[in-house]
Amino acid sequence: MPKFIISGGAKIGGEIKVGGAKNAALKIFPAAILFKEKIRITNVPDIEDVHRCEELLKDIGALVNNLGNGVYEVDASNINKTDLNPEIVKKFRSSIMFVGPLLARAGQARFPHPGGCVIGAGGRPIDLFLDGFSKMGVELKTEDKFYHLFAKNIFGTQYFFSKVTVTGTESIMMTAVLAKGTTVLKNCALEPEITALADFLNSCGAKISGAGTPTITIEGVDGLRGGEYRVIPDRIETGTFAIMAAVLNNKLKITDCNPEHVGALWPLFDKIGVNYELGHDYVVVHSTKGPLKACSMQTHEYPGFATDLQSPYVVLATQCQGLSLIHETIYDRRLLFTDMLTQMGANIIMCDPHRVVVSGPTKLYAKKLVSPDLRAGITMVIAGMIAEGTTEIDNIYQIERGYEKIVERLIRIGVNIKKTEE
Ligand code: EPZ
Repeated sequence: MPKFIISGGAKIGGEIKVGGAKNAALKIFPAAILFKEKIRITNVPDIEDVHRCEELLKDIGALVNNLGNGVYEVDASNINKTDLNPEIVKKFRSSIMFVGPLLARAGQARFPHPGGCVIGAGGRPIDLFLDGFSKMGVELKTEDKFYHLFAKNIFGTQYFFSKVTVTGTESIMMTAVLAKGTTVLKNCALEPEITALADFLNSCGAKISGAGTPTITIEGVDGLRGGEYRVIPDRIETGTFAIMAAVLNNKLKITDCNPEHVGALWPLFDKIGVNYELGHDYVVVHSTKGPLKACSMQTHEYPGFATDLQSPYVVLATQCQGLSLIHETIYDRRLLFTDMLTQMGANIIMCDPHRVVVSGPTKLYAKKLVSPDLRAGITMVIAGMIAEGTTEIDNIYQIERGYEKIVERLIRIGVNIKKTEE
């Protein structure tokens, strides 16, 4: 299996460009199923999960044309299959996003439990998706580990999400676009990717109001006309690269981003003592003279501190003076990666499955590691940049799933990293 090899003592500088948001791109490809006309998608990141979306769409009969430079055209006018390929579905969690549009378009969908990161208890539950679909008139059968959903008609409904769920909100919102009647969704997620998706669908004839607020209303329409969607900048890459620069204490400019989408990070940088400046579409992190000061953090649904930035933040906490309490409120198991940082020399105590206390600053030492998931994987890369020695990371599919050309981009800013061959 290919590995990442990172030498410590990195001195980075220059500029790094943020790619299109993985968690926006992975919704627009399934959304294409709602259309009987071609749509054009630009600023698409070149990542494994997008390639899986392409494969899933082609497998059900859609035409997908990768024009290069992050530009795709998708024509789903001739969907000829409603069974989602189980081998592909198991590779990423957001394969679940294909179910709602398939139900809206073809009245049925058959699929296994979606795969992807190991975070979250019970293999990333989809109970809220299934509950929402059932309220819209969808019947559910399970047979030998497959879900089989079917509905003669999809009806508008009132649905209150018992938990704030990003993909759950997006999924039911998309399904409601072609439903008969009006749907009112309450306790919705507020992520900017949801607003971007709703804005695009509205530009193609959908009638969605309230995206970005806890209540979203969707009036069903008969069909959508084609359009063009530009994937918004990846706010998790933006925050990850900013935290990386703070960890290395080197000046770095992060371009093609939207600092407002990472609003919860900057007040923490202020408390820690990180020097930075925010532009309209860039962030500059400067090196900091004084010691970094410990600052506790709690993850929260958007616009709170993103759970996807929790693991890079823990590495930063290992370099801050004092005790930082990190409270992961969204996912079970998402702090298990800290065991790897402890092996590298970090001083971390796990108080309970959702809380760790990090005592810093501590020197880190290189280790041979295995990336458990996407975000912990990039965190190991950042830890390897400051660790003494040469760090080896296995299972890098879990990193390349979400970070486009990450080795090339890191080498360009001075990181000593390479990918071994297969
Ligand atoms: C999205 O996942 C993102 N993925 C995640 O990013 C992100 O961490 C997460 O939102 C939270 O911000 C994509 O957009 C593809 P949730 P999602 O449903 O929608 C529970 C990354 O690294 N829940 O908001 O799957 C769930 O277990 C990924 O890019 C149910 O109980 O997350 C969790 O505790 C990781 N039942 C909470 O809700 C359900 O039916 C929030 O999860 C659905 C979710």
